[in-house]
Amino acid sequence: MAEKKPIKITETVLRDAHQSLIATRMTTEQMLPIVDKMDKVGYHSVECWGGATFDASLRFLKEDPWERLRKLRDGFKNTKLQMLFRGQNILGYRHYADDVVEYFVQKSIANGIDIIRIFDCLNDMRNLECAVNAAKKEKGHAQIALSYTLGDAYTLEYWKDIAKKIEDMGADSICFKDMAGLLVPYQATELISTLKETVHIPIQLHTHYTSGVASMTYLKAVEAGVDVIDTAMSPFAMGTSQPATEVMVETFKGTPYDSGLDQNLLAEIADYFRPIQEEALATGLLNPKVMGVNIKTLLYQVPGGMLSNMVSQLKEQNASDKYYDVLEEIPKVRKDLGEPPLVTPSSQIVGTQAVLNVVMGERYKMATKETKAVLSGEYGQTVKPFDEEIQKKVIGDKEPITCRPADLIENELDKIRQECSEWIEQDEDVLSYALFPQVATEFFKYRNAQKNKVDQNVADTENGSYPV
Ligand code: CO
Repeated sequence: MAEKKPIKITETVLRDAHQSLIATRMTTEQMLPIVDKMDKVGYHSVECWGGATFDASLRFLKEDPWERLRKLRDGFKNTKLQMLFRGQNILGYRHYADDVVEYFVQKSIANGIDIIRIFDCLNDMRNLECAVNAAKKEKGHAQIALSYTLGDAYTLEYWKDIAKKIEDMGADSICFKDMAGLLVPYQATELISTLKETVHIPIQLHTHYTSGVASMTYLKAVEAGVDVIDTAMSPFAMGTSQPATEVMVETFKGTPYDSGLDQNLLAEIADYFRPIQEEALATGLLNPKVMGVNIKTLLYQVPGGMLSNMVSQLKEQNASDKYYDVLEEIPKVRKDLGEPPLVTPSSQIVGTQAVLNVVMGERYKMATKETKAVLSGEYGQTVKPFDEEIQKKVIGDKEPITCRPADLIENELDKIRQECSEWIEQDEDVLSYALFPQVATEFFKYRNAQKNKVDQNVADTENGSYPV
């Protein structure tokens, strides 16, 4: 029998699973009652913060994301907490100055995060440096995630080189982040075994069930030596989410990769989440459509979310008959823009430009602000050079930048702090405001109103007018 190498598991039910299936709407109140049991499982980590949870908490749930993190930290006494962090974008949609990135990392760790998974949509390592260094300074675990994609540029050599760079940058581990479920089982064997020969730091695999192959991909990846896999408790697994935790645990039982996790305990946790899933189905928050296999992601090699965006953009322009033209245009635009991985925000940029090119009847007759920014180097360096002719057509004689984009952004934390000073009740508020100024302001107003209500109730009670 081979040497024992228990597979480690990152549980995603509190972050990616509900982000992928129910638009990130799981509330803190729904999470807290099960934390105690989850803490006893022995997960490698629980992913519970970052990604879209921050925006969704403030915007839709009227919750303070920092408060959620502190409550989860209180409950998880033994388990490492993990977050997803979009490099120089933090959790927002633009490039921030280094002082904001550093402060966000510092506060994330101070409030309870152990492992920060940091990625960039172009895999431009310069966009990760600041966050990685900050995480290490704060004694956190800095994991660099590579956005996995297919294309001419993405050879085994490319992944090897970049993995080596990641190790040299001082990252504590590497994650392969396969947003669309493009990594098929036998490719996983090749990729993971090559990487295990290349680097010494642990390798984690993150994929989505969208294309239907994810559990098999994990099986082959584990056999090839991957150290950690991301899974979700069964009520929030499969479809556009991750493979089910219980299924992967059972798969490796009695093998050298046995995780040792207790199926009975996992079953109790699944029992807790099942009514939450059923309620989401009943209200329509969970659309049964996202639970199936979407084989188009494999056919067209684009994430499912990008296809549905494209369909609605075409509908708005009364051009639904152009669906297949746009599908053909997407890989061409991607090539023009240096063949980036298709993940937020590059997926939206490529998709929207492809729609424009087709609908306008002339390629790049109109270019979006974002396409211009990409071709001006403002998102960073792409794996392949831009198409020079297209670049000239879109940005004219403007000189593209070649430095790390954030080098051109002056420190901005003090200015932001001044801007939102009237709302600040805790240090972290300035970060909520920095990321989502309007949404955070709305939330701060709501928070004040709630507090006034409570004060009023107390005053009423003291006046003896409280209804008995
Ligand atoms: Co994901």
